[in-house]
Amino acid sequence: MTLEELLADELKDLYSAENQLVKALPKLAKATDSEDLRKAFEHHLEQTRNQVRRIEQVCNELSVKPGGRKCVAMEGLIEEGKEILSADAEPDILDAALIGAAQKVEHYEISAYGTARAHARQLGFMRAADLLGETLHEEEQADEKLTMIAENRVNVQAAMSKGN
Ligand SMILES: [Fe+2]
Repeated sequence: MTLEELLADELKDLYSAENQLVKALPKLAKATDSEDLRKAFEHHLEQTRNQVRRIEQVCNELSVKPGGRKCVAMEGLIEEGKEILSADAEPDILDAALIGAAQKVEHYEISAYGTARAHARQLGFMRAADLLGETLHEEEQADEKLTMIAENRVNVQAAMSKGN
């Protein structure tokens, strides 16, 4: 296998991962009572749809067919996310679990896009590397947003319990 073939597999994996996420994010958005968290999921759904198109663009530049491969890592992460949906938990705990599951997804993507970008750079595919970098940046922002939501909620709860 050449580095170029490895990159092609990485792109196919990411394409599958993003498409799986487009299907899963609406379910996460539905599961929360938190307006902040729902909006974050919905916003990231829009970004994810755009990321699917961006990978198609990268694949087009590299003459790679994006389909035909399943990202089993994302499948597993989404499967674990679905277990949360069927768990019996208070809304705050459910949200904490949803945030945790979503951050695992983001960290996986951050890692995968970082690797794919590095390989694209090594091969001299600078336009592809830039496009992958755009998505990488969005994933990092999504991750930070989730951390902010989680920390705000913890702070609000701490403030409330002080008042009791
Ligand atoms: Fe993504």
